[in-house]
Amino acid sequence: PLVSMKEMLINAKENSYAVGQFNINNLEYVQAILQAAEEEKSPVILGVSEGAGRYMGGYKVVVAMVKSLMEEYGTTVPVAIHLDHGSSFEACAKAIHAGFTSVMIDASHDPFEENIAVTSKVVELAHFHGVSVEAELGTVGGQEDDVIADGVIYADPKECQELVERTGIDCLAPALGSVHGPYKGEPNLGFKEMEEIGAATGVPLVLHGGTGIPTHDIKRAISYGTSKVNVNTENQISQTKRVREVLAEQPDQYDPRKYLGPARDAIKETVIGKMREFGSSGQA
Ligand code: G3H
Ligand code: ZN
Repeated sequence: PLVSMKEMLINAKENSYAVGQFNINNLEYVQAILQAAEEEKSPVILGVSEGAGRYMGGYKVVVAMVKSLMEEYGTTVPVAIHLDHGSSFEACAKAIHAGFTSVMIDASHDPFEENIAVTSKVVELAHFHGVSVEAELGTVGGQEDDVIADGVIYADPKECQELVERTGIDCLAPALGSVHGPYKGEPNLGFKEMEEIGAATGVPLVLHGGTGIPTHDIKRAISYGTSKVNVNTENQISQTKRVREVLAEQPDQYDPRKYLGPARDAIKETVIGKMREFGSSGQA
């Protein structure tokens, strides 16, 4: 069923695993991720960035596509459609009214009080509709669509606690050194802060920039209350690698199904690997 992230993440936190947010870009992503989730009996979050939402034809198209595939597949595992890095109250409202079951309001680049104000406004509307809310503090490095960081700023534990208390968000993404896109060398995550923030806020934490984080770091993050890990780039890399392989082997190929089909399988394999790594397999 289509659900918010609230119960999913509370359950994940209580049982020490994390639910993967896998970003979608088109039909094949939704197919691959829903199939992986059902086979693995795993809850799953479909992440939709504003850019990807536009690419797919708008939030209503996304919701209709996900709903009809779930019906077609007879999906039994919990699925959330989540706006990733929502840039404004208006963007979140649009997603909520289109039928998204979860939104992220990313006002992390705004001054603290402004972040609190816009996040509170989103929480009010979202909770009225039974939609869950994720907020962010600090800066995730790298670039994802419209989200470009000029430097990595670590989230402040005191501010995290205050933001959670004053806004009533369902989960928090404290930026602690993670990066969108590939890492240069090993990631250096602020685990001390993560532990402190997890304990002080009590809400499930979200780890952005899941691509390239080693398993031991994932496990440690989960032990400090991380209940959601976002993965985008890794699926894009495995998909595109497969397309290149097929086209290199068959230079005269022009039927898109002949390269997008195998590429869809590559996404599915990557997602299954992540679900097992995060411990969400068998939890639905
Ligand atoms: O919001 C989405 C992510 O944080 C994905 O990061 O592309 O590095 O896996 P990634
Ligand atoms: Zn992110």
